[in-house]
Amino acid sequence: MAFMTKEWTGREVFKIDGFHHVEFCVGNAKQAAYFYQSAFGFDLHAYMGPETGCKTHVSYVLKQNHVYFVLTTPLHSSHPASEQLKKHGDFVCDIALSVPDPAHAYEECLRRGAKEAFAPRADKTKEGLFVTAGIRTYGDTIHSFIHDGEFKGVWAPGFVALKSPALNRQTVHLAAIDHIVGNVAVRDMDRWAKFYEEVFGFMTFVEFDEKDISTRYSALKSKVVRSKNWRVKMPINEPAKGLKKSQIEEYLDFNEGPGVQHVALITKDIVHAVSALRANGVEFLEVPDSYYDALGARVGDIDEDLELLKKHKILVDRDQEGYLLQLFTRPIEDRPTFFFEIIERKGALGFGQGNFQALFESIEREQARRGNL
Ligand code: FE2
Repeated sequence: MAFMTKEWTGREVFKIDGFHHVEFCVGNAKQAAYFYQSAFGFDLHAYMGPETGCKTHVSYVLKQNHVYFVLTTPLHSSHPASEQLKKHGDFVCDIALSVPDPAHAYEECLRRGAKEAFAPRADKTKEGLFVTAGIRTYGDTIHSFIHDGEFKGVWAPGFVALKSPALNRQTVHLAAIDHIVGNVAVRDMDRWAKFYEEVFGFMTFVEFDEKDISTRYSALKSKVVRSKNWRVKMPINEPAKGLKKSQIEEYLDFNEGPGVQHVALITKDIVHAVSALRANGVEFLEVPDSYYDALGARVGDIDEDLELLKKHKILVDRDQEGYLLQLFTRPIEDRPTFFFEIIERKGALGFGQGNFQALFESIEREQARRGNL
């Protein structure tokens, strides 16, 4: 049964201010950085690598308003990330969180049963204090905790500033990270929702199962956990029984295990963002024209022109609080694993559950085309 509750019932054990950045472990960060600049409208912000004294890996930091992505490539097969890359392909390795006190957050997490990714370290540089620590979550994903409020340098110790060249692309205006979704194995969703409740003091505020969302062929179950201040929202999906293979199962097969399925990026103007992204070459899931036939009746009065939404194939959903507009890219790599969501919220607190039917039908058509249904 679907439910959504607004009232805070969590018990915050340490303060989390919000998402700090997302780190992608990729096979070729130099080329990936170009893709994020030219297709998604990011700007180069910082860099570390052999030229800055780091012999083990390179990292490019990309920025767009409040969205920061780090693209990291190991330089040798002996680097632990090389094994992870071989297994998953390009994948999200770190959902980094801003916290006032990383060492305290780390200790509280470990005391509540979380596993260490890396111990707290405080870099006291001439540019100021930078503190970080890390714990493990599902798959090969970690959560770094970062406190950089007093750090005046570029990004983090060891990084140098890097500027994008002039590129012929449209600006997209993605504003911030809205939510980050993980896919876990069958019967693991409850365990991971509980992990966030117990370790972070988050609460589950949205829940739905195969009785709410299903087509003849695919189904998923989902629980969404959030921080007290709403800044961190993390849906956790597991496959549910369907007649044929669930899209979550396809992800788990090709990612060879659990991991981040999508990052949702919020914008104040989704029509602009989607048309700019399309012009820059980003591919989105197809939405059948018939989706728009019943849309007016389903979502009621909205500010946007329905014809314009139909032209750009943008999805709309309404909940008790308002409505939202959203659209999902196709997987951004050859393995059918990770993708992005572009979202604009007009009061709605949900995740577009009402669009799942349309979305699933569209995903299944693509899955069938790849012979994985
Ligand atoms: Fe989403």
